[in-house]
Amino acid sequence: RAKVSALSLLRMKRMKEKICMVTCYDYPSASHVECAGVDVALCGDSLGMVELGYATTQPVTLEEMLHHCRAVRRGLSDEGPMLVCDLPFGSYEESPEVALRAAYRVMKEGGADAVKVEGGRSIAPSVSKLVKSGVAVLGHVGLLPQSISTLGGFRAQGRTAVKARSILDDALALQDAGAFGVVAECVPPPLGRALSESLEIPVIGIGAGPFVDGQVLVYHDLLGALSHPHHRRFVPKFCKVFADLGDKAVEGLEAYKQDVKQGTFPDDDYSPYEMPEEEAAKFQ
Ligand code: KIV
Ligand code: NA
Repeated sequence: RAKVSALSLLRMKRMKEKICMVTCYDYPSASHVECAGVDVALCGDSLGMVELGYATTQPVTLEEMLHHCRAVRRGLSDEGPMLVCDLPFGSYEESPEVALRAAYRVMKEGGADAVKVEGGRSIAPSVSKLVKSGVAVLGHVGLLPQSISTLGGFRAQGRTAVKARSILDDALALQDAGAFGVVAECVPPPLGRALSESLEIPVIGIGAGPFVDGQVLVYHDLLGALSHPHHRRFVPKFCKVFADLGDKAVEGLEAYKQDVKQGTFPDDDYSPYEMPEEEAAKFQ
């Protein structure tokens, strides 16, 4: 297939083909996402939580994003998904110029096709600067995990008419600034629908209900990849778990440990390096 681009996503919206997006953070997850034929791979700053064990996305640095984005790039082919990389907290908010420098690094060093930034009207001047400078930008409205300190928690946004209107205005400002799409996180379905109907560009939902143009989920959440009981609680309510990678991994590791402890691994089948008989005789 042809490489997915901002233009093909727009076409998908127009043809009412739902856009499928997944986060991935490294070479193996990128290879899985590519093989599954997913449209967009997001190297998200959620990697801070699911890959690095931080409590929020706020500590994630640009260097960390670049390290992961490069690995994702190596796991995707030229005909594969579009690769979008988050600009992390603190790397872009200061000014459009600072945002552009961060975006160039993510594209040139990270190999990303596009960047994602959180925020609405306040970030629109930066989005405009990026787009005019040749950087494809995906917006992000609703719950903004990077603003968790001021939001006061990971909770739904836009639940009153006034707040929903404000989020819609944010998304429209991003569209006007040239964003090729917008992620809408943790908003009620009526707002998801209004966003999709009001915007020409695709609206990709996460916890935004079914009436949007596409869906995105975090790789570890949708695949049940984390087994740690303390993490379990953090799989969000809106996320359907489609596999149990974490349980499978623990099962495999326990079986391996048992074989090692009992001395049943490796047996002859897994001891492939032979020494010629006469050498073995001399050696013993
Ligand atoms: O970092 C991330 O995983 C994201 C998605 C939740 C959209 O921004
Ligand atoms: Na993110």
